Amino acid sequence: MRPLFCLLLLSSALFAADPAMVEKGRAEEKRACGGCHGLRIIHIQRLNRGQWDREITKMVGWGTVVKEREALLEYLVASYGDDKPAAPLARSADGSKKP
Ligand code: HEC
Repeated sequence: MRPLFCLLLLSSALFAADPAMVEKGRAEEKRACGGCHGLRIIHIQRLNRGQWDREITKMVGWGTVVKEREALLEYLVASYGDDKPAAPLARSADGSKKP
């Protein structure tokens, strides 16, 4: 029993996040995170799991109602983790860089 349990733990740590969970988190972001600012401010971040967790706590502290916290965290880590390439810069119509 114990080796099987260890294997399960190890595989959940090694394999990518559950796609259904990630989709649930994406829907939660759409529902919960667009009320005060656009989603781009979220999508340009590259944070690790602990940092995303703190970010959610910070937004909840400012009044955000989060119902699917676990799924939201999985989605943020899977999509905007610090192992992902940097987000493309926004550009104005004349090609100059915007911050
Ligand atoms: C109640 C309003 C509100 C909601 C809803 C909200 N945010 Fe924010 N968020 C803010 C404010 C205000 C800022 C700007 C803070 C600043 O200037 O530092 C911000 C900034 C951010 C930033 C930029 C980094 C930072 O901390 O300033 C991220 C990432 C972020 N929010 C993520 C989220 C996520 C994820 C959700 C959904 C769970 C969410 N926000 C929902 C108010 C909100």
